[in-house]
Amino acid sequence: MAKRVLVTERIADEGLEALKRRGLEVDVRLDLAPEQLIEAIPPYDAIIVRSATRITPEVIDAAENLKIIGRAGVTVDNINVDAATAKGIIVCNAPTSNIVSAAEHTMGLLLAAARNIPQANASMHAGEWERSAFTGTELLGKTLAIFGLGRVGELVAQRARAFGMKLIAYDPYCSLERAEHLGVRLYDSVDEVLPLADFITVHLPKTAETTHMFGPDQYAAMKEGVVVVNTARGGIYDVDSLADFVAAGKVRAAALDVYEDEPCHGSPLHAMESALLTPHIAAVTHEAQARAGRQIAEAVWAGL
Ligand code: MLT
Repeated sequence: MAKRVLVTERIADEGLEALKRRGLEVDVRLDLAPEQLIEAIPPYDAIIVRSATRITPEVIDAAENLKIIGRAGVTVDNINVDAATAKGIIVCNAPTSNIVSAAEHTMGLLLAAARNIPQANASMHAGEWERSAFTGTELLGKTLAIFGLGRVGELVAQRARAFGMKLIAYDPYCSLERAEHLGVRLYDSVDEVLPLADFITVHLPKTAETTHMFGPDQYAAMKEGVVVVNTARGGIYDVDSLADFVAAGKVRAAALDVYEDEPCHGSPLHAMESALLTPHIAAVTHEAQARAGRQIAEAVWAGL
């Protein structure tokens, strides 16, 4: 009997086709509510999700045939990996599918913040012709602090270097040799990095250690007029206190793509002109989605 794969979020057609070509029966059921997923899961051998489907212990409990959970993206924080592992279910991801997209979005936010592009765009749409109000800063010669020099952090470093930025980083898992190879000066503590940076970007997973890693004490220690960017995971910056520092002008701009609770329809930053907010689209490119579909189809097939 053909093995059955449940797909609960949109993945690229080429991924679906790859699974079907191999004789798997693929059911695409988008927007299942949590209780509907629990009802639907028992016959399936594999499930493929993106970030919106939560694979909870209840879903895993209800799964009678499940052998593999595929996450068409990088992080697996919507999947209860411990519960899956305890039941012998493999969890796999598409670890390089969207790293270029994430790095490019980070650069987009850095440039947009440095040059006030969203504000200037809004002003043009309002029929205005303001120029000096949008006087920006160049990236050339400015210091960019990268927290997390993993796959995305590395791509950001390469791109920022091409803009002539000075690169510093904190990443306790990165070797000095690797940092040197990337042209990045590595520091041993967060506290050492904070006062040095004109721009800060985080490329860290969300863990107990990184949740609210940046709060009032850290914002206070930053340079006056710093720009902070987050395309990694919501909650690494504590947004409530960040809003206070943005309001006071200490943080010149906060550019965020990710939020502690998603979808996010409101936060203290939403009303602030110096907050550049995008709805978790760093990985949303045609190229990344095609790659994620292909990579996860391969991984799920191999796992089955
Ligand atoms: C990822 O973890 O792959 C990205 O944040 C994109 C996503 O969650 O869909």
